[in-house]
Order: sequence, then structure tokens, then C-alpha cells
Amino acid sequence: MSDPALAVIGGTGLYKLAELEDVETLQPQTRFGAPSGPIRVGRLGGRRVAFLARHGEGHSLPPHKINYRANLAALQALGATRVLALNTVGGITERFGPRVLACPDQLIDYTWGRISTICEEEGSEVLHVDFGEPYTRALRQAVLAAARTAGVAVVDGGCYGATQGPRLETRAEIARLRRDGCDLVGMTGMPEAGLARELGLDYACLAIVANWAAGAGPDPDEAITLQDVLDNVAAATAGVPALVRAL
Ligand code: HPA
Repeated sequence: MSDPALAVIGGTGLYKLAELEDVETLQPQTRFGAPSGPIRVGRLGGRRVAFLARHGEGHSLPPHKINYRANLAALQALGATRVLALNTVGGITERFGPRVLACPDQLIDYTWGRISTICEEEGSEVLHVDFGEPYTRALRQAVLAAARTAGVAVVDGGCYGATQGPRLETRAEIARLRRDGCDLVGMTGMPEAGLARELGLDYACLAIVANWAAGAGPDPDEAITLQDVLDNVAAATAGVPALVRAL
């Protein structure tokens, strides 16, 4: 079987790619430990694609407990060179309301206490990778082109603020993120993007806006409910398989 050139990491509300055909299930181990769950490798649009649910297929792992290093290393060991990260997020600025898909071009990392490098082990080479442009430009362009081909609306650009979670943010925290220049807020964008760069993987994020972040929408008093989040993610991800197929 040929290597999967593309890997897709699914986020909250997207635990499988039902469109994959001839699926093989793998349970690899890596030098960083086990990934979040099984990796499903199958055919989509005539190409092999690997899929991994970031939180586990039963959503058992909170964002700060995910073994991001093992997930990426496992996909890389299968032969994947490009990673499309699907991240469920809250929207902060006007263009990023619920059900929008976006391909951000910047990020700010507010997470803490997560292993954020592959240079953790004693004696490992210290890498200071360039991260000025955190997402791979060519892959971002390919994602946007695939979206056009598939007729799926995707906002080009935006800044992703990665927060620690698992709780949602306070209104003051979101106001601060807005002042910092963030358009989107999510809990899983980092350290994943930085690790992908260290590992030499092409990496882009397709953010799925599930809700207005705290205090950000037209009704600042509105509470965020899990049901709204899941409904919005389900609606927004309808176009994702066609986009992945085109990619
Ligand atoms: N904040 C952080 N992460 C999220 C949100 C949010 O409002 N919605 C979905 N993931």
C-alpha cells in the first residue's frame, strides 16, 4: 500500500472521516509514546489519506493531555508529509462567526505546561526553528484552492489564539485576545503547529468556528452551550470531506 501523503487530524465534533474507503486501522507506537487513538488510513479521491482524532475517537482527552508529539510522529512515520489540522474554535472578530471555516495565517500561543518541543530529551539537538509564518504557505494555498474547487467557503487568514482550556475563556480574556490581534480562539492549535515545524512537516489549520467566544458576538451576554457548539460544528464540517478530496 502506498504511503498516505496527507494526514488529517480531526478536532472536537469530527472523530472520523466517513468518506474514507478501504480503511486500514493502525495502532502505532512512537518514541514519544502512543498517539491519541487508532490511525485510519484509507482512500479518498484516489489518494491515500490518514485520519487521527486528536481527542481520541470517544473524545476522552482534554487539550492539555493530548500527546501532540506522538500524534505527529506517528503520522510522519506512516509517510505523511502534509498535515491538515481541523480545529474547532470560537470566533472573536466580525468575519469569524459561528459555522465559518477559516484557514488562519498567524497564531499566538497562550498555553502553558505542555511539552512544546521535540528537543525535550537530554542530549537531543536544540532546534530554534523559524516560526514567523507558523503555517506552511504552500499548504495554506493548496487548502484555499481545494476549497474553491470544492465550492466550500473558507476565510483566508486570521490569527489563532491558543488557550490552555479545558474551560472556556472569560470575557476579559477574550477582550485581551482581541486587543492582541486574535480573530479565533481554540485550545489545540499549539503546541501542534510548532511541533509540526520542528518535525519538518507541512502543516495548515482549517478552523471550524463553533461559537462566538465569550462576549464576542452580537449578544455579549449569551452563554456558550455544548449543543450549540456541536450543532454548529456539524453544519460547518459538511463541506470538509469535499475539501479534503480536492486537496
Ligand atoms: N474558546 C476556546 N476554544 C474553543 C471555543 C472557545 O470559545 N469554542 C470551541 N473551542
